[in-house]
Amino acid sequence: MNEIAQDLNREIIQGNSHVYELLSELGKKLYFPKGILTQSTEAKQKAHRFNATIGIATEQDRPMFLPLIQETLASYDPKDLYPYAPPAGKPELRQLWREKMIIDNPSLKGKSFSNPIVTNALTHGLSIVADLFMDENDLLISPDKLWGNYNFIFGVRRGAKTITFPFYTEKGTFNTTGMKEALLSKKDHGKAIVLLNFPNNPTGYTPNEQDANEIADALREVAQQGMNLAVIIDDAYFGLFYENSIKESLFARIANIHPRILAIKVDGATKEDYVWGFRVGFITYACEHPAVLNALEKKTLGIIRGTISSASHPSQTFVLNALQSPDFQTQKQEKFEVLRKRACKVKQILDQGKYLDAWDYYPFNSGYFMCLKLKGVQAEVLRNHLLDQYGVGIISLGESDVRVAFSCVEEQELEELFDLIYQGFKDLSDG
Ligand SMILES: Cc1ncc(COP(=O)(O)O)c(C=O)c1O
Repeated sequence: MNEIAQDLNREIIQGNSHVYELLSELGKKLYFPKGILTQSTEAKQKAHRFNATIGIATEQDRPMFLPLIQETLASYDPKDLYPYAPPAGKPELRQLWREKMIIDNPSLKGKSFSNPIVTNALTHGLSIVADLFMDENDLLISPDKLWGNYNFIFGVRRGAKTITFPFYTEKGTFNTTGMKEALLSKKDHGKAIVLLNFPNNPTGYTPNEQDANEIADALREVAQQGMNLAVIIDDAYFGLFYENSIKESLFARIANIHPRILAIKVDGATKEDYVWGFRVGFITYACEHPAVLNALEKKTLGIIRGTISSASHPSQTFVLNALQSPDFQTQKQEKFEVLRKRACKVKQILDQGKYLDAWDYYPFNSGYFMCLKLKGVQAEVLRNHLLDQYGVGIISLGESDVRVAFSCVEEQELEELFDLIYQGFKDLSDG
C-alpha cells in the first residue's frame, strides 16, 4: 500500500479505530498524491519569476480565454472562471458553506466537523461516500421509500446488500423502531451504512422533534452494542420545511454522539438554491478527532483527483457570488414561500374528501414531493393511462404508490392536476 495512504490510516486508527474499521478496501488504499497539484501549489507561493507548472494557458498574467465566451460572462473576472478550482473546491466557498451550515443548524456549534469538500453535486458526494465505506456485501440500511438512484450508487456500483424497513409507523411518523430492528438484525456484520434523507424524496416527509430524538437515540444504542455506523445524511432538500418538523439537519443531532458513529453530511446548492444544472455539492464529516477529519478529507480528495480531478470552477463562483449577495436570503425566502404555499394547497385539495375512494396520501410536510397510495389500481397502469389520455406525468413507485412533484406545478393548477389524476383513476377502476 502507498506510504501516504498508510500514514493516513495510522492517523485514523490513532484518532478513532472504528472509523478505520468502517473504511472499504478502496477507502483504506486512498490518499491524496504529492503530484503535480502539490508542486503547483508550492510554485504558486514561491515561483516569483516564472511559474511553469500548471496545466492551463495564460497571457498577460491571467488565464487565456476565448473572448466569445467571456462576452457572455462579462460580470465575472476570468480568474474566477477559467483556471482549475482546487480539488477540494474554492476555499472561500467552502468557508462560507461551513458558516451557513452553522447558521442553519445552531446545534452544530461546538461540535467537531470538517470543512465541506466540494463535489460535483450530491450524486457525486454519495458516490464518493460509497467508494470510501462500502465493500461488496456491506450493508446499506435505508427506509423503503427512497431515491431510486441509491440502488445504483451503492448497489450496482459497490455491491451493497440493501436492507430496507417501512418508512412510516402506523401513526404516520418515522419508523425508528424499524430502523433499529433492521440494524440489530445484522449486528454480526459489525458495520453498516445508514442512509437517511429528509426532506425525503419521494414522500416529502421530515421527522418531528420527538422522531428526530428517537432516531439519534436508536443509532446511539446500536453503536453501544458494538456496531460501527457510517450515517449518511442526504440533505438534498434541506431548508424546505413547511410545518412542524425539525428545521435543522439530522447531521447536527448525530455529529459526535458516539465514537462508533461517523456522521456524514451530503448536501449542496442543487435543490436548496435552485441551481440543479450547476452541479455544486459538498461532503462534510463529523468526528471528534481533527486528525481523522484531515485523513478523511485527504482520502476524499484522492477519489476526486482520480475521477473528476476537480469540480466546475464557474459553477462554484456562481454559487459563491449568490451566497455573498445581500439579496440571497430575501430571494431564497420568496421561492420557499412559493413552494410552501403549493404544499399547503395540495393538502387543502386532498382534504376536501373528493378523492377518498381513489387514494390515501402519505404524511408530508417538506421538500418537493408527496406520495399517494392508490386503492385498487396499479401505479404503473395509472401512470401510463394519465400520460396517454390526459398528458399528465407522475412517477409510479412499486405496486400502489405514485409520487407527485408539486415543485413543478403552479399553485393555481394543482387542483386540476389532482382532478385529472382522479379522472384517470376512475377510468381504470370503473372499467
Ligand atoms: C434525495 C436525493 N439525493 C440526491 C439527489 C441528487 O442530487 P444532485 O442533482 O445534486 O446530484 C437527488 C436528486 O433527485 C435526490 O432526490
